[in-house]
Amino acid sequence: MRKNYIAGNWKMNKTLVDTQDFAINLSNKLPELKNTEIIICPPSLFVYEMAILTKDTAINVGAQDVSVHEKGAFTSEISAAMIKSTGAKYCIVGHSERRKYHNETDEIINQKLFVLLKNELTPILCIGESAEERENNLTDKVIIKQLSKGLKNVELSVPFIIAYEPIWAIGTGNTATPEMAEEVHLLIRNWLKENYNEKISQTIPILYGGSVKPSNIEELLKQPNIDGGLIGGASLEVDSMREMIKISENIEV
Ligand code: 13P
Repeated sequence: MRKNYIAGNWKMNKTLVDTQDFAINLSNKLPELKNTEIIICPPSLFVYEMAILTKDTAINVGAQDVSVHEKGAFTSEISAAMIKSTGAKYCIVGHSERRKYHNETDEIINQKLFVLLKNELTPILCIGESAEERENNLTDKVIIKQLSKGLKNVELSVPFIIAYEPIWAIGTGNTATPEMAEEVHLLIRNWLKENYNEKISQTIPILYGGSVKPSNIEELLKQPNIDGGLIGGASLEVDSMREMIKISENIEV
């Protein structure tokens, strides 16, 4: 049985005070959770503050990226051990914005997965096709390439999360239809079965990301292979997070 995940990726938004307000307000208004795992990934500067303020709550904290290096002279980089030491449990890796603006390749993402796993942080590995790739019927090919190269020699075991984020749906308001997303989630699950095993394929949560919001999350979560959302814009407001958590709690896992 897989839980539903409501994971917020704040990207480069919010200040320290905003982070504190959000942490306190969301913690105060949380219902008791049976089915849902909540993850908030603030900017790395505020990961520690979020982890401290939500320590005894159902809110888990993640970073948005990690260095491939373990330590040393790499100005501005943040290591997996540093993230771990804040109390964070998760780390996003391979987000399309990192791939696009920072030239991250599948090979770099692969190295990042190794440092995260070595430091016992749970990766949230992002994959997804561009609009052009979808138009040219390359979606399956791109997804399989990102999985096989990103996960090369990775001994996959739980906990590990995969997020399918079609680039054309991110920040655009154009969500993939639940059926379109489900089709790719099933492809990912089948790939995990073929390349790892049935147990891994059935236990790894696969989240969908791309314009997820309170008005569309229910239909997405109802799909058998969609286990949650990796949410950008709609994760920035406490009320909309609370609404999505409530919807998730009411959906059978
Ligand atoms: P939006 O929800 O703003 O489309 O962003 C999705 C995303 O990139 C989450 O990682």
